[in-house]
Order: sequence, then structure tokens, then C-alpha cells
Amino acid sequence: MIDFQEKYKQHSEKLVSFPAFKGKRTQKWQSPSNIALIKYWGKKDDQIPQNPSLSFTLSSSFTKTEIIYEVGGKPGISIQFLFEGKHNPGFEKRITKHLHKLAIFLPFIKSLNLTINSSNSFPHSSGIASSASSMSALALGLCSIERDLFGTLTDEKEFYQKASFLARLCSGSAARSVYGGFTVWGKNEYIPNSSNEIAIPLKTEIHPVFHNLNDSILITSPEKKSVSSSQGHSLMNGHAYEEARYNQAQTNFHGLSEALKTGDEKKFITIVENEALSLHALMMASNPGFTLLNQNTWNIIHAIRKFRKKNNMMLAFTLDAGPNVHLIYPEKNKKALLDFINDDLIKYCHGQKWIDDGIGSGPVQI
Ligand code: DP6
Repeated sequence: MIDFQEKYKQHSEKLVSFPAFKGKRTQKWQSPSNIALIKYWGKKDDQIPQNPSLSFTLSSSFTKTEIIYEVGGKPGISIQFLFEGKHNPGFEKRITKHLHKLAIFLPFIKSLNLTINSSNSFPHSSGIASSASSMSALALGLCSIERDLFGTLTDEKEFYQKASFLARLCSGSAARSVYGGFTVWGKNEYIPNSSNEIAIPLKTEIHPVFHNLNDSILITSPEKKSVSSSQGHSLMNGHAYEEARYNQAQTNFHGLSEALKTGDEKKFITIVENEALSLHALMMASNPGFTLLNQNTWNIIHAIRKFRKKNNMMLAFTLDAGPNVHLIYPEKNKKALLDFINDDLIKYCHGQKWIDDGIGSGPVQI
């Protein structure tokens, strides 16, 4: 069992001085968001999850992050952060905080001036969480800088492991976004080499029925979340259902890994929807309690259940920490599902907005 924190800390001693270079260099990555089917909700110190989570990486919802770097003047973290081309002091403050954490493992960033330019493929007002895509894009960019300056991380596996580790320190779910397809984060007894420190791609054979999943993201509200994920995670400490939740997550994790292998669509639907509703039930039952769902979230859920009963078709819903509904279904059902969305669901979407997304092949360097 590798202790990644120890490994990267030790290695950091070799990542201090690099051959000076003139002018500016650039690394640019496009990294997607992901949707969790088994939810990460509750964490220990240092971004260690309380339970294993399982997600698939999306395709169309991504962040593009360009890092321009030059040898800096005075030592310390020096960044300028631009969001969609404009200086963004709010994001800059947050990223500076993250970089201070990451500098323990990447001390060379203190000798650079960084300009970070980031933009999302999805609209700002869509309520889509961008921390997974943005933090994974940042981590991948920093690993590329390490590779450029020190000639390290030339091995693909090593590169993505370190990117996942660094992304996790900024936002837990971002650890899963550095790979395409299905991804697992969190030590468990069912997936060999699973770890709390990094996510790994799910290598167990995935049954063909789950190969080309679509995710139609139905936007029911453009508003920013009223409670941040971090606050939500911390409300799990001392939660009345704390222990029961972590046991439930283990059971669901095992069940879903089996269903993905055997192609059990019924089990997939039951577990995925149980996870989504349990996540929000935990929020409602926390102290203080909160609810992020709105009337249209419920209208969509009821319509999905009715449609499934009538058509006996594979489709499942899941929810993130927000009111938007992710409608998950295989490519072969797309025609029927597009009709369903247009005829019955679009009226519940804010400004008739929904995002046509699906399982993707992971980040790309651009
Ligand atoms: C409900 O990864 O956003 O989306 O680690 O505090 O940044 P932090 O939390 P974050 O939490 C995501 C919670 C979730 C479930 C999931 O993606 O697993």
C-alpha cells in the first residue's frame, strides 16, 4: 500500500531548483466534470473521504485552464487569476490558498510567477459545480509544469496519480476527474489498489449496457448553491445518521460495482437513485438542516418514475449537491428519451435549459 503523501513529500526535496529559463511558458488542459453515482459526503482531515465513491467522467461539461509561468522575482506564491479572460479576485484568493497547500509537494511553484486563465464550457448560471473540472485542470497543469522543469512524471500512470492526489487536496470530487470512464476514490475491500489519497480508473470489466451512458442535465435553477459542499461535508460530523450512512455507502458501493460488472440495470437504477435521495435526506436531517431541491426537481423525479413504469426502460436519475436532475440512460434509448425530455420535462427546466452530456474519455492536454 503506497503512502502517497509521504512519497510526494519526500520527492518534493528534488523539486526545488530547476534550470532558469527566459520568458514565459504555457501548459493548458481541458478537464471534465464528473457525476457521482455513489456519493462522497463526509470527510476527515486532509480531504480523506469517509466512504468510497464511484463516478463517471462527463464529456461536454469541462473547464479549460491555461497556466502561464515564468521565473518569479520574489519568492512565495505569486498568481494572477483570470476567469473567462477577466481578473477574478474571488477565485484568485481561493486558488492562492490551494497553492499554499500544494507547495508542500511542489515547492518550485514558489519560484514562479503564474498567470492562470480558466473558462468553463457550461454557462455560469447553470448551477453545475465546477470544482471537479477546475481543480483537476489546475492539478494536471501543475504536473505538466513539474514534468517540463524537472523531467519527472514521464510515466503516464505516475503523472495521473499525482494529478489526482493534488486535485483531491483542492476538492475531493476533483480527484476522480483526471481519468475518463468510471472512476473510484476511497479505500475499499472490493477494488484492488483503491486509495483514500487518489482516485483510480475502474478497471473491472464494465458490462456493455453501461458503455455509452448519456447524462442529460436538467437545469431547474440557475442559482448558486446556498450551502457549500464543504459546509455540507462538515455537517456529517456528529450527524444522527453518520454511522448508518457510511455503512449504507459501503453496501451501495459494493452493489453498484457488481451491477456494473454483470449488467444488472435494475440494481443500477435502485442503487443510483437511493444514493441521490439519501444524499439529500442527509442534508435535510443535518443540524441545521437544509434542502437544495425545488418543486421542479420533484416534478421531474415523479415524471421519470411514471415514464419508467409505462415504458419499462433503463433510465435513472441522480442529483448533485443542488436541485438539477441528471438523467442517466444508455445511447440506445436516446431517441425515446429526447422525446420524453421535450414533451414532458423541459417545462420544468429553468429557461428550458438542459445540457446534453454523457460519459467521456477524460482530460486532454491542449
Ligand atoms: C455531492 O468535492 O465539492 O458532489 O472536497 O469539499 O471540495 P470538497 O467537496 P466536493 O463534494 C462533492 C459532493 C457531491 C458528491 C460527489 O461528487 O461525490
